Amino acid sequence: MVKVAPSVLSADFGKLNDDIEMLNASEADYIHIDVMDGVFVPNISFGFPVIKSIAKVAKKPLDVHLMIVDPQRYVNQVRDCGAEIMNVHVEACTHLHRVVQQIKAAGMKAAVTLNPATPVVMLEDIITDLDMVLLMSVNPGFGGQSFIPGTIKKLRQTAELIKQSGSKAEIEIDGGVNLATGAELAANGADILVAGSFVFSAAEPKEIIAELRKL
Ligand code: DX5
Ligand code: ZN
Repeated sequence: MVKVAPSVLSADFGKLNDDIEMLNASEADYIHIDVMDGVFVPNISFGFPVIKSIAKVAKKPLDVHLMIVDPQRYVNQVRDCGAEIMNVHVEACTHLHRVVQQIKAAGMKAAVTLNPATPVVMLEDIITDLDMVLLMSVNPGFGGQSFIPGTIKKLRQTAELIKQSGSKAEIEIDGGVNLATGAELAANGADILVAGSFVFSAAEPKEIIAELRKL
């Protein structure tokens, strides 16, 4: 069984509390929170005031995915929002090792994210320090994009790196996840599936979450 992390990027921000309550009542394992700065990615989503509002209502652990430059500036603020996992992009961190240690010292799980064109070898010297690897299966910035098939090869390579190194990291996949792509991901070693538009555009989001979890 895979874990599921619905992304609130595709929620209705006009009734965010209702959508978070829906996730509380669902089988979701995490709530995935996408922060975009308009610099690292060509879109702006929301920041700490909104995350704090989500945290007040959320009963699931928060998985915060920072699509921003120099995310080390915000380690304490992410922690103060009550995040369990802090995801930073390898492409956004000049001193990735230091950032990972800062995240762990702040009491959070450290996750490192790779864009679709960033090779898995970039993780080789940090993998044993990580709690999670997040592989982007779309170019970050927007919900509702199509899954990039090359992700499957990267997923297998990441699983192999984790095995060879003895790392305890879990593998999360983000972008274009639905029942078809999710099944292939689960079969190839994904531990956690992020799903935004597929969950929130469904008539019965809780059922979709339950179906994804069975993959
Ligand atoms: C994309 C975000 C994703 C996004 C996924 O930049 O990181 O988490 O919400 O959306 P879907 O599932 O619609 O591809
Ligand atoms: Zn994300």
